Amino acid sequence: MLRFVPPAGAPLKIAQILRAWKVADRGNGTGQECLRSVTGHLQVKYVFGASSGRAALWLILRSLQRLHPERNVVAIPAYTCFSVAAAVVRTGLKIYPVEIDPHTLDFDFSQLDAVPGEKLLCIIPSNLFGLLNDLPRIRQAAQAKDAFVLDDAAQALGATRNGQFAGTEGDVGLFSLGRGKAVTTIEGGLIVTNSEEIARLVEQEAKDLDSQSRIDGAALLLKMLLYSVLLNPRLYWIPNSVPFLGLGVTEFDPGFKTEELPDLCRALLPALLNEMAKINQVRRSNAAAIMRAVAGNCNFEFPSPVRDSHPSFVRLPVIARNKETAKMAIRRMRKAGIGAGASYPSAICDIPGIAEHMSVKSFHRPEAEFLSERLLTLPVHPLVGAQDLSRMADILNSL
Ligand SMILES: Cc1ncc(COP(=O)(O)O)c(C=O)c1O
Repeated sequence: MLRFVPPAGAPLKIAQILRAWKVADRGNGTGQECLRSVTGHLQVKYVFGASSGRAALWLILRSLQRLHPERNVVAIPAYTCFSVAAAVVRTGLKIYPVEIDPHTLDFDFSQLDAVPGEKLLCIIPSNLFGLLNDLPRIRQAAQAKDAFVLDDAAQALGATRNGQFAGTEGDVGLFSLGRGKAVTTIEGGLIVTNSEEIARLVEQEAKDLDSQSRIDGAALLLKMLLYSVLLNPRLYWIPNSVPFLGLGVTEFDPGFKTEELPDLCRALLPALLNEMAKINQVRRSNAAAIMRAVAGNCNFEFPSPVRDSHPSFVRLPVIARNKETAKMAIRRMRKAGIGAGASYPSAICDIPGIAEHMSVKSFHRPEAEFLSERLLTLPVHPLVGAQDLSRMADILNSL
């Protein structure tokens, strides 16, 4: 069977890409104007662009470090995207991995409260899969240690809690515009803050970024056009069967590029942000349909969202009872043409060579390590059909 539902994705129309290309080509600061439109959409004062979410993270960490040069430790969830660890390492800072609560994917707060405060620069929640973390509680922990909160909403663009957007609940926040995120321009990252002091420093740091080369710019345009066509479940089997594209592969690579957000990405933002709420609503409704159909099945658990929140569900996380059940579910889904996947291959603590970048000798976190074996994710984006949803539920219920 050739139909294969991509694991994640957001629609990107050819007409939108070509319109943005024309706008970007005009120059005259229109890219900057488009970037500024983010402030209105997300109700923040300042916004900056970078070539990726991890480049945005690196810029922010450099800026925060200038405010507190005597602090060199960053607390991150022990289970999160490897890029978070890579950005901390790239900045020359040390990682303090905090145990996570597998029922929420948020921090284990007793462990967060126990993080030594003296050298702590900031705490980075990850809002994994677009499920919001408990930011008021995290801010409280940070305040007690006089540390910053960096609200990493790489996966949570458009998610809200009590009407406030994820990414805007800390001192500074970020979003990724990479493939598979809530809204995508294929590559790119955004930094948002309401703090004038942090904004000034980020602006200074961002001045040194190189702009994208013409060749890379042409390649980006081509990637956008291909993505727009190949995201269709009837065609996705094509990129999915090309191993060198590395789709779904997670790497720890502190050598990532740090450039400006390309003008083409900036020019796409206004149109994409206009559609964001509608697309996230579809994701939520698809996620709810699967959760309803699988309710009561003791082999699988869905992490619970924090109260009064509307997640963006870039993927629907499902926690299997054990490793074998997770593996079997993924195998059966993929056989049925559903892009289910295993998320990150390990906890942060188990990345090879990570020990020298840890701020503590004892850095293994059993819940995070166990979770990495049992977590699978299901596609719930707008290209998932009603039949796909019932097929996913049937497979989970058959195990
Ligand atoms: C929580 C988190 N932070 C940062 C990043 C880095 O974003 P990017 O892939 O755009 O570099 C990611 C990427 O998936 C992420 O999930």
